Amino acid sequence: MSTRASWGSKLGFILAASGSAVGLGAIWKFPYVAGKNGGGVFLLVYLACVLTVGIAMVLAEMSIGHAAKKSATTAYRQLKGGLWPWAGRLSVLCIFLILSFYCVVGGWSMAYLWRAITGEILTQDTQALSNMFNGFISDPLQSIAYTTLFLTATALIVMGGVQKGIERSSKILMPALFILMLIIIARVLTLPHAIDGVMYFITPDFSKINGPMLIEATGLAMFSLSIGCGIMIAYGSYVDTETRLPGATLWISLLAVLACILAGLMVLPAVFAFGIDPSAGPGLTFITMPAIFSQMPAGAAFAVAFFLLLIFAALTSSVSLLEPIVAFLMDEFNVARPKATYLIFAAVFLMSIPAALSFGPLADYKLFGKNPFDLMDYVASNIMMPAGGLLAALFVGWSIWPRIHQTLSAQNAAAILPAFRVICAVIAPVVILLVWAHNL
Ligand code: PFF
Repeated sequence: MSTRASWGSKLGFILAASGSAVGLGAIWKFPYVAGKNGGGVFLLVYLACVLTVGIAMVLAEMSIGHAAKKSATTAYRQLKGGLWPWAGRLSVLCIFLILSFYCVVGGWSMAYLWRAITGEILTQDTQALSNMFNGFISDPLQSIAYTTLFLTATALIVMGGVQKGIERSSKILMPALFILMLIIIARVLTLPHAIDGVMYFITPDFSKINGPMLIEATGLAMFSLSIGCGIMIAYGSYVDTETRLPGATLWISLLAVLACILAGLMVLPAVFAFGIDPSAGPGLTFITMPAIFSQMPAGAAFAVAFFLLLIFAALTSSVSLLEPIVAFLMDEFNVARPKATYLIFAAVFLMSIPAALSFGPLADYKLFGKNPFDLMDYVASNIMMPAGGLLAALFVGWSIWPRIHQTLSAQNAAAILPAFRVICAVIAPVVILLVWAHNL
C-alpha cells in the first residue's frame, strides 16, 4: 500500500485550508449579507460565531482526520465504525452537490474576468449591466462552457496531488488573493465618501440584532469555514504528527475572518462612494462592482484585479471540494488519484449541467419552488452541511473524546480542552439545531 500523502510544510497546510475557507462565501456573499444586515453589527456577530463555535468545529474535523489519517468515511469507520461511516458518505454527497453549483459561479467569475479585460462590463449603466449578467447566465452554451473551464482548472490542480497540486497552488493563489485585495482597498479608500462605508462597516448598531440575522451569521460562518462536509477531515488527514492542530486552526480561522473583513472594506466603501444601496444583494459582485469600476480612474485595471481575485478565491475552495471526493475513492476503493479525478470530474460535469442551465432553459423546472441550482444549494447548505457538522461535533464531543483528548493533550493544548469539549458536545449541536430548524 502506498504511504499517505502529506503536506510539505505547516505553512502550505495553513494556506491550503484557509484557501478552502476563503472563497465565494467571503468575497461574494459576506459583503452583501453584511450590507443587508446593518454592517458593523453583523461583522461583530460573525466574528463571535467564527471565533467560538466555528473555530472549535474546524479543530474537531481536523482532529478526526488527523487521528485516522484517512478521509471522512474511512476515518469514521476506523475510529468507531457502526453507522458512523454514513456521516462520511453524507459529507461526500454534500460536497459533490456544492461543487456542482460552485463551479457555475466560478465559471461566471472567469467569464467576467474576460469581460473586464475586453472592457465590455465597464459601463455605469446598471440596467445594461443587469441585462448583460442575466443574458449571460441564461445562455446555455456559455454557462456550460465556463463552468467546464472552471471545473477543468480545479481538476488539474487536484490531479497534481496534495503537495504538488493543492499546496503549491495555494502558496501562489492565497498570497496573490490578499495582495490584490489590499491593492483594491487602497484604491477604494481614496474615493470621496469612502469613509462613510468604512464607518458603516465598523460601527455596530446594536438595534439591528435580531433572530434571523444571528442565524444568517452562524450559517455564513459555517459555510465560509467549510465546516460540516468533511473537507477539514480530509485536509487534517494529511497533517503530520508534529504540527500542532490548535495553533494551525487558529491561523486558518483568523485568515478566513481577515478575508471577510478585507472583502467588506473592498466593497462597502466603494458602494457608499457611489451612492449605491449597500443591501443591493447577490448582484453586488457582477452588476454593482463593474458599474463602480467604470467610474474610477484606472477602473479597468481594478476590475481585472477584482475578478482575478474572485477566481483565485473560488479555485482554492473548489479544489478543497473536489479533493475529499477523490480521497474517498482512493481510501475506500483503492482507486489511483488520476483515475479517481477523471471519474469525479465526469460525475461533477454531468451534475453541473442542470445547475448551469438553471437561469436559462431550466429556469422554470422547479422542485419545491426552486430551480436545480437553488435546490442543490439549499439541500447541501441548509440540510446536509448542518447535519455533517452536527455529526462531527457529536462524534468528537462524545464518541471518540478520550482519543482526541489524548492527542491534543500531547500537543500542549490541555488548557483549551474543557471549553473545546463543551462546545463540541453541547453548544455546537444546539446552535446547529437552531440554525437548522430556522432554515427548514
Ligand atoms: N468556504 C467556501 C466559501 O466560503 O466560499 C465554500 C465552501 C467550500 C463551502 C467548501 C463548503 C465547503 F465544503
